[in-house]
Amino acid sequence: MRFSEKFEARFAEMLTHYPTKRSVLVPTLLYAQDEVGYLSDEVIAELASRLDLTELEVRNVISYYSMLTLKPRGKYNVQVCTNISCLLRGGEELLEHCEKKLGIGNKGTTPDGLFSLEEVECIGACSWAPAVQVNYDYHENLTVEKLDKVLDEYKKKGTQ
Ligand code: FES
Repeated sequence: MRFSEKFEARFAEMLTHYPTKRSVLVPTLLYAQDEVGYLSDEVIAELASRLDLTELEVRNVISYYSMLTLKPRGKYNVQVCTNISCLLRGGEELLEHCEKKLGIGNKGTTPDGLFSLEEVECIGACSWAPAVQVNYDYHENLTVEKLDKVLDEYKKKGTQ
């Protein structure tokens, strides 16, 4: 399979930073996922062959990290933390609000492919709880009203 030139440049560069090929697996999976949208069978087979790993070894790594996915997600992946700090400051209400507003449950994707929703463990923003991560962007100290605006902004951006 073919990746973009940007991917190939990053991949070649990464190989120079680590003593063994398998060490670049996780960042390579993230770059591939950003490019393709998810980790398809084809991506897994390609990366396994490039890094001298079996497809099973690659799949085992994917199953460990919640940010890696075998299924296509929405353009904006809304990850709502409901771990202790966020839980105490309204994380569950935020999750319920997202479910209602987007009309999908945990791990669901809206029919237009714009949003997917995930309940996640701590995302490292406990001091600014409750926090939500959308793709690589953090939104902190949220209330239902603030989150509403955040989601509306993404919707506007995604449908322009
Ligand atoms: S508990 Fe939510 S970011 Fe840490």
